[in-house]
Amino acid sequence: MTPDSSPSSDVPDRQWWKEAIVYQVYPRSFNDSDGDGVGDIPGITAKAEYFDSLGVDVVWLCPVYESPQADNGYDVSDYRSIAAEFGTIEDWEHLLAELHDRDIRLLMDLVVNHTSDEHEWFEKSRRREAGYEDYYYWRDGGIGENGDPVPPNNWGSFMGGSAWTYDDEREQWYLHLFDEKQPDLNWRNPDVREEVASLVEWWLERGIDGFRVDAINYISKPEGLPDGESDREPTGIEVFSHGPRIHEYLRELYERTFANYDVMTVAEMADTTVDRAGEYLGEDGDGLNMILHFEHMDVDVSPRGRFDPSEWGEWSLVEFKEILSRWQTGLGDDWNAQYLGNHDQPRIVSRFGDDEAYRVESAKLLATFLLTTRGTPFVYQGEEIGMTNEEFERLADLDDPMTIGAVEDAAAAGRAGSFDELREFVNYVSRDHARTPMQWSDDEHAGFTTGTPWFDVNANYPEINVEAARADGDSIWHHYRRLIDLRHREDVLVYGEYELLLPEDEQLYAYTRTLGDERLLIVLNWSPEPASLDPDETDADLGLANATTLLSNYDPDATPVGRAFRPYEAVVFRL
Ligand code: GLC
Repeated sequence: MTPDSSPSSDVPDRQWWKEAIVYQVYPRSFNDSDGDGVGDIPGITAKAEYFDSLGVDVVWLCPVYESPQADNGYDVSDYRSIAAEFGTIEDWEHLLAELHDRDIRLLMDLVVNHTSDEHEWFEKSRRREAGYEDYYYWRDGGIGENGDPVPPNNWGSFMGGSAWTYDDEREQWYLHLFDEKQPDLNWRNPDVREEVASLVEWWLERGIDGFRVDAINYISKPEGLPDGESDREPTGIEVFSHGPRIHEYLRELYERTFANYDVMTVAEMADTTVDRAGEYLGEDGDGLNMILHFEHMDVDVSPRGRFDPSEWGEWSLVEFKEILSRWQTGLGDDWNAQYLGNHDQPRIVSRFGDDEAYRVESAKLLATFLLTTRGTPFVYQGEEIGMTNEEFERLADLDDPMTIGAVEDAAAAGRAGSFDELREFVNYVSRDHARTPMQWSDDEHAGFTTGTPWFDVNANYPEINVEAARADGDSIWHHYRRLIDLRHREDVLVYGEYELLLPEDEQLYAYTRTLGDERLLIVLNWSPEPASLDPDETDADLGLANATTLLSNYDPDATPVGRAFRPYEAVVFRL
């Protein structure tokens, strides 16, 4: 390598948030310090050493603000205080200090498409208090043919049913794209935008390192709130997603707040394509750093919507590769976020791997994928030990309002008479899988709490838990740690270009990462059957014969050149 082509000089735009590995914490289910059965902030602080030993750089905290918890904190009733069950603002400050002491940054969740109906803005708005009348979407409805009141338009809620609820006090309908306890803020009102900017500023001033911005593609609704006309679910999504003034609002928020701090912003945006992403990202867009898109999350569900029970469960690796590769290569100078699961999705090893015969191998393969592709990787709590889906037997076993709403909708539409008819579907899609408590040890309740957990612990905790994983050098946990270490050492894994090989191969997901003279080849046999890589089939001149193995989920010394890759074998080669 000549001095001019050192990896750092090949790197176009170095940023800490591109090099970071994010670990997502769902506070309710992470670690309970006081025995009330609900995870809390002191419980998270107690695990600061844990984050450090895994090697992650950023902790993203799902909402811990004051909230009636209709949607586990995504219904905020006071943006400037901490929910009592999670702790106090002093606890939160202590967490921030403990993380910062270890050079770990803190990302907060920003939920401002909607508030809780118990937020004082909503209470004032429903009373028509001066200045607050217009903080939310209030509309008169109509009268149906049978004389019953009907909502102002046909939009559906992500939580099932209509997106409108009639309020007896104000005698009008209000809009809620999510639960009826999550009324949508009216971003057209400049006072609302001012409130949002000021609360963002309030947290930034407290020293946080950025925000994950919730459901932000829904904040602008078109004039007249026209009916939806497609068959997509919820009804109206094509109308209320990416509305006409969204860039104006986001750009304004960026200039008022994020632009003045060295922070990371990651926008959750369902229903977003790579072509559209550029409008939001970077200085020439709305200033956001990266997007959590959903295209790969939609690969195995109905094109009409994830909670449509008529189509689910099938997916092909070829399509999966095509989607992910589009995001790997299509963003130009903009940056990607990379994830396979989170608190809204089933467990990754159950969904994209094999949580039985090849649980360990396939969980390691998924980790290899996550940590060797382009874009900031997001690891969701429990993935690092291969936590699996739970089996929900009855409707009463569920907690998530979105899943329950989908079951109710299916019943109302005559698509299912009983929960039993939907059980398999629910067990495939439910968000509740990700919300079972973190499995720390084989102690009672997996060491999550000394009390009664708010949600049942997965019965497999005696085998699948952090303590056991840390004690076993071959575990999924150690594989994550090694991959994180490798990514920290190898600029090529962060900044290198991605090139997909063998796009039509139904078993192998193979790609190269290239930065200057550095070139890595990653081969993932994403199947339970052996698969061979024929270098002649690839366009790239790989030079596999001289490749060295950097990391493998099988025996690292047995470089699989000239032989088949074993089930779920995942290898990182240096070419
Ligand atoms: C996001 C959150 C999800 C929540 C929804 C409404 O999708 O990730 O958990 O239900 O927004 O806030």
